Amino acid sequence: HVIGIDLGTSAVKVLLVDWTGKVKGESTEAYPLYQPYSGYSEQNPEDWVEKTIIALRKVLQVSNVDPSSIVGLSFSGQMHGLVLLSENNEVVRPAILWNDTRTTEECRLIEERVGRDKLLSITKNRALEGFTLPKLLWVKKHEPHLFKQVRTFLLPKDYVRMRLTGHIAMEYSDAAGTLLLDISKKVWSEEICQALDINIHLCPPLVESTDYVGTLLPEIAEKTGLSKNIKVFAGGADNACGAIGAGILEEGQTMCSIGTSGVVLAFEQTGEREFGGKVHYFNHAKPNSYYIMGVTLAAGYSFDWFKRTFLNHMSFSEIVKRAYQSPIGANGLLFTPYLVGERTPHADADIRASFIGVDATHTAWDFARSVLEGITFSLNESVEIIRASGKRVDTVVSIGGGAKSEEWLQIQADIFATPIEKLKNEQGPSMGAAMIAAYGCKWFPSLEHCARVFKDVEQVVEPNSRAVERYKEIFEMYKEIYLQTKELS
Ligand code: XUL
Repeated sequence: HVIGIDLGTSAVKVLLVDWTGKVKGESTEAYPLYQPYSGYSEQNPEDWVEKTIIALRKVLQVSNVDPSSIVGLSFSGQMHGLVLLSENNEVVRPAILWNDTRTTEECRLIEERVGRDKLLSITKNRALEGFTLPKLLWVKKHEPHLFKQVRTFLLPKDYVRMRLTGHIAMEYSDAAGTLLLDISKKVWSEEICQALDINIHLCPPLVESTDYVGTLLPEIAEKTGLSKNIKVFAGGADNACGAIGAGILEEGQTMCSIGTSGVVLAFEQTGEREFGGKVHYFNHAKPNSYYIMGVTLAAGYSFDWFKRTFLNHMSFSEIVKRAYQSPIGANGLLFTPYLVGERTPHADADIRASFIGVDATHTAWDFARSVLEGITFSLNESVEIIRASGKRVDTVVSIGGGAKSEEWLQIQADIFATPIEKLKNEQGPSMGAAMIAAYGCKWFPSLEHCARVFKDVEQVVEPNSRAVERYKEIFEMYKEIYLQTKELS
């Protein structure tokens, strides 16, 4: 058996699987998120460690497997969060998370001092509030007394791994989201550190996601009930691990994940391509490969908002079923899902959502259908960028809440104009983490071999050619809405 740990934003999930990828047990433990001021989002790293230990102990209890049969363990985790450590590896202040937006000023400073083109050529990404470097600069400026104590920094799951094993390291797929890594050379960027007066020695040693980093500390083995000989592998960022779980390991493979936010992610072989910062471009957890990724900030969140606000007495599935009775294009009603701004392709934090074309004959179900379509159109803007770059999008593996509805899967197939694969018993990033452990333990000669055994496609939803044609026309109108309304927000 192997274990995959996914250190999420609201909870840690532990997944125990056997050598065929069959789930033998899972456990989840939630922890608090602190939002003391508007735009702030912090967590206490000690909560992560404590809850991970509890979740590990629980997974043993619920699965009833012999602890000595568990030979490997790896991680997935929320990206970008800043954990600052002092001389004795003690946490200096609460972690500042990926969804914290206090650093607009620091982002401006980075693009000014490093230069936007230079930053893009080294990190392949633009300076966004969520990334790690702006947070480091924020602490340096606003909490200099704390910053003085800092000897290194880690990302959330790298910190938990350090506490479990005693070894300090950061792996590439997460390091790529710091804005300090030269992603194609796979080294910390001296140029960026110098331009912003950051001591490069603060940056931790780098390892591959699939690297063996050590075994569990004796006290952790004792607290969890796991063997202290269990092999721990570095693991990857949640999006990279989600991609591994969905088998996105070769050119042409694409994934669409609809949770609170939505992600369209495509495999990329090299770190040398130019996407002009329109999409995120990160190192994959499969060594020496990459992925690009577009983000719709309010995906599932938009549908959730709609239900909560207007139809809270009904279940999601009931709303989707009735929405599906409204025809393609929701009788001329269009929705843009910019409830909290938008990342891809506009990178516009100020834009807000709209319904366009409301008619006296529209029903609640036309509105519901337009929300589902609007979210999917927004994701299709990422699909379009991927296609425009010359990449093939032959099939899309759909995961997350958006894959749980037959009707929404069909809308995805028709709007993306590709067959959609739905996985059986999909587990999200924790499965990717378990696969890294399985590969690390040498159960398979490659991650691709592992995916062939672990990935179980339950259903393929084919696009309907008439619907595809109709959606192509409507999508052109959808894209106009941003251009025509951006000045109003
Ligand atoms: C990626 C991002 C999020 C977090 C969520 O850029 O900010 O997907 O990784 O955990």
